[in-house]
Amino acid sequence: MDFEIAPGGRIAGVCRVPGDKSISHRAVMLAALADGDSRFEGFLAGADTLATAAAFRAMGVAIDGPQAGVLTVRGVGLYGLTPPAGPLDMGNSGTGMRLLAGLMAGQRFGVTLIGDESLTRRPMRRVIAPLRQMGADISAAEGDTPPLVLRPVESLHGIDYVLPMASAQVKSCLLLAGLYAQGRTCVTEPAPTRDHTERMLTAFGRPVRRDGARVCIEGGAMPLKAASFAIPGDISSAAFALVAALIAGEGELLIENVGVNPTRTGILDILRAMGADIELLNPRQAGAEPVADLRVRASALRGIAVPPELVPLAIDEFPAIAVAAACANGETLITGAEELRVKESDRIAAIAAGLAALGIAVEALPDGLRIEGGRFRGGVVDSHGDHRIAMAFSLAALRATAPVRIRDCANVGTSFPGYVELMRGLGLGISAS
Ligand code: S3P
Repeated sequence: MDFEIAPGGRIAGVCRVPGDKSISHRAVMLAALADGDSRFEGFLAGADTLATAAAFRAMGVAIDGPQAGVLTVRGVGLYGLTPPAGPLDMGNSGTGMRLLAGLMAGQRFGVTLIGDESLTRRPMRRVIAPLRQMGADISAAEGDTPPLVLRPVESLHGIDYVLPMASAQVKSCLLLAGLYAQGRTCVTEPAPTRDHTERMLTAFGRPVRRDGARVCIEGGAMPLKAASFAIPGDISSAAFALVAALIAGEGELLIENVGVNPTRTGILDILRAMGADIELLNPRQAGAEPVADLRVRASALRGIAVPPELVPLAIDEFPAIAVAAACANGETLITGAEELRVKESDRIAAIAAGLAALGIAVEALPDGLRIEGGRFRGGVVDSHGDHRIAMAFSLAALRATAPVRIRDCANVGTSFPGYVELMRGLGLGISAS
């Protein structure tokens, strides 16, 4: 499926984006293992999170929905899962596979985790090595890539692990394995990363203690208690609407009900440093997560050197940030972002190729990008099957001199079902064919 976007346009109105992907994955996982029924509003009906729900259905968990955003999970308890009939297919989702690897390591049955072509290329050593230290029996294909094969072991034991990279997925994998381990499991992160797992474990009655950069969970057979809450809109999806409104000719956009957990708001800090006019209105709480409405107005942007400490807090937003940088005055420098090389695509390469195809001067660095603000011409961009590359480059048309075509966009449905309709409603001249 390709996107075709007419040049120009004005972005204005009021919208809501689909539910947070990270929170939706974790909600299904913890609810499945809790005692009792959990109900979530705002659950993301994207391919990634539906794959996680399907995996738990295959292990005997009754899950109703999502219907109109509501998902009900009938928890089976920590040891209530049953062996699946075949491999669990996590589709395109690194989060699904890495978090599930942690949970599966402590089960009394074996499983095989598989994924699509992109996921099958992604590095799994980062979870395999520490899970083995905990006593897990886990193996992978050549080069430590999926499929992951987990076999049952007598027991896991807690470890004190220092993460070699800032990764919420690895941190979460180990905390989830820690639910099944004897003793305490601790993870120290080199920089703050999203803390949804810690917040949600605490909400399900298994508190995670933080001491500076170190988080710990106690093992043992203590049950998880069912919990029900509303899942906020995904700031990583809101990022596309935000950048659209900033770079389009005059206009004002209100994005309601967006998660603004401080471990996710690097995008707001980076765009504001570039001169963006973004206001947070009506701050409130949704379950364990802070939420607000975002008001954004078209703004003249300037290039910046992105502070490296903000990188993990905006890790999924660099495709959108790169498009904003291309519309800014002067140079934007992104460094310390080598993790972008191992996302759904090599995002450094995909961003550099996309910007160059649309006439922007760009240099790919080993750990980032140097982007010189300029003028988009029309052209064709290859998304490499990466949802966020597809959505980000669709925005370039707002400032292009001719139509923009994006190839291979079906994966937008992994995180943002309804993207085309929503953005068309706000004023982007986008169609899918
Ligand atoms: C996620 C963590 C991030 C992010 C991904 C979702 C999560 O990955 O890129 O989209 O839900 O924990 P890393 O933790 O590997 O950087």
